Amino acid sequence: MIKGNIRNFSIIAHIDHGKSTLADRILELTGTVTRDKMQEQFLDNMELERERGITIKLQPVRMNYKSNGQEYIINMIDTPGHVDFSYEVSRSLAAVEGVVLLVDATKGIQAQTLANLELAQKQKLVIIPVINKIDLPGARTDDVAEDISEIIDVHPDQVLRISAKNNINVDKVLEEIITKIPAPEADDQKPLRALIFDSKYDSFKGVLSYCRVVEGVMKRGDRVYLIATNAKGDAKEIGYFLPALTSKPEIKSGEMGYIATGIKEPGMVRVGDTITQLENRGISPLPGYKELNPVVFVSFYPESNDDFGLLREALEKLKLTDPALTFEPEFKEVLGRGFRCGFLGSLHVEIISERLRREFDLELVISSPSVVYKIIDNKDKEKLIMSASDWPDPSGIKETQEPWVLLEIMTPVSYMGGIMEFLNVLGGKYIDTKYFKGDKIMIVYETPLRKIITGFHDKVKSITQGYASFNYNIIGFRKGDLVKLEVLVGFNVEEAFSKIIAKDEAFTEGRKLVEKLKEVLPSQQFSLAIQARIYGKIIARETVKAKRRDVTAPLYGGDVTRKRKLLERQKKGKKKLQERSDRINIPTESYLKVFKD
Ligand code: GTP
Repeated sequence: MIKGNIRNFSIIAHIDHGKSTLADRILELTGTVTRDKMQEQFLDNMELERERGITIKLQPVRMNYKSNGQEYIINMIDTPGHVDFSYEVSRSLAAVEGVVLLVDATKGIQAQTLANLELAQKQKLVIIPVINKIDLPGARTDDVAEDISEIIDVHPDQVLRISAKNNINVDKVLEEIITKIPAPEADDQKPLRALIFDSKYDSFKGVLSYCRVVEGVMKRGDRVYLIATNAKGDAKEIGYFLPALTSKPEIKSGEMGYIATGIKEPGMVRVGDTITQLENRGISPLPGYKELNPVVFVSFYPESNDDFGLLREALEKLKLTDPALTFEPEFKEVLGRGFRCGFLGSLHVEIISERLRREFDLELVISSPSVVYKIIDNKDKEKLIMSASDWPDPSGIKETQEPWVLLEIMTPVSYMGGIMEFLNVLGGKYIDTKYFKGDKIMIVYETPLRKIITGFHDKVKSITQGYASFNYNIIGFRKGDLVKLEVLVGFNVEEAFSKIIAKDEAFTEGRKLVEKLKEVLPSQQFSLAIQARIYGKIIARETVKAKRRDVTAPLYGGDVTRKRKLLERQKKGKKKLQERSDRINIPTESYLKVFKD
């Protein structure tokens, strides 16, 4: 059965091409949010999203729309555009029949446009191409339409041209959604199968699952059963995203909605799992999502060991809304109890650390981001290492290996020189250049994953004034001459700053790290040496000068001996302080600042 009045779609685009702004206009046009209640990027409701102007989380919303006398229900999912959050995109796509592919008229097709398009094509979704920001003076609308016509099989004239900001032609997008995207196939008579595409924690109602109902009906009060985790609960509340969660007696096949499961353990509700009623527990699950492998590992330790439980709870809650995050407890003598967490990229690390600080008030010690390394020991045994602190003594290492990626950087041709220069310094292997219409090229390059997990995004953007974009795929392990770089702050090895680097970069990396630390560490009562060390040998050193209090200020005139005495006493006091203090207090932001470079 086909439910002719429902349309489910998602907006996909490269970061900043205007998805959230288009979503705002659609919310207005359908009367879902009135103009006076509208604030820009309405669906980006997380504080961090609004502050940074980026979408981190997918957001579903249900709208009513009348076209040619017919009433329609349109479910829309706004998705993030940054490469680190592409998992959010792939989940949204499993819940819809079509997508609006949005491309900025001044920037044209970017690496993430292609990556997201590929995801949509794999799921065989209907694609509605739209060029946004045609109001801008730098718009190259015709060229971009030509480019789009080459990557998906459409005539350039069929590509919609809009300004989401100035509300030009947005109504045409809605019309195409109605006419081109197929209504969902649905059957209310079949036993319930609903795909969980997101979830959220509520301390009263238990975990809220956001689902796309594929078959059947879920009613308030039904017994809930989750197939993968074998978890049971009660549908305490059911409803729609209007966009506020609004309670209804049931949700039916073809629709999107939420189910408050009453389940209090966040780990039992997994995104990608199938929800059904307890009486249908034998039913086969819907195809889930691809299991994601984290590529960057970072350890979080609570500043105070008493907060370990709080950190666990916080991570469990964040995982509900962010299934790409993985974590497992670990213990390190110098750092105490913490969690080793897996991420999809460095922006992902940054966002989660910020959320832990803001939403859960946790001050953290954060280890240097690391990829997975492979070590072959003297007995030819392989071992995977996810944190520099687990790096073994060099005497036991026969060979070291690290993951490499195939990088695709898309840039206007005028920045090709700058990008090539940067890639040559980065190290790796040039593979190919592909040419697109207009002045776009794609440079294909192989490099160690380690090189791109921190700072790479910002660097590429600054070389190309924001015009380039990139995507990457892991191609496997390759041999490398790797060593562990340690940092001593004062008398202590600060294990969190340890990192794995190539041996021939040791001096430059060591110098860079101590200089950065000097810049970001708060000054103390005493002067503080910061040293970089490789296998016991110091290779770089900087000193953070002591905070100076003028003890001689109350003295007038030239009582030199008295002045000297006071300064002497101050010096002695500081030395004592320095010897006494075991470690210095390093604020969370300092770790993040060091890792960003
Ligand atoms: P992410 O969610 O971070 O991926 O970004 P996004 O694609 O949702 O982009 P967003 O809607 O936040 O828009 C990015 C910027 O482009 C904002 O400053 C918007 O005001 C601006 N913008 C969006 N649409 C238009 C348009 O049609 N014309 C002009 N001139 N600016 C626009």
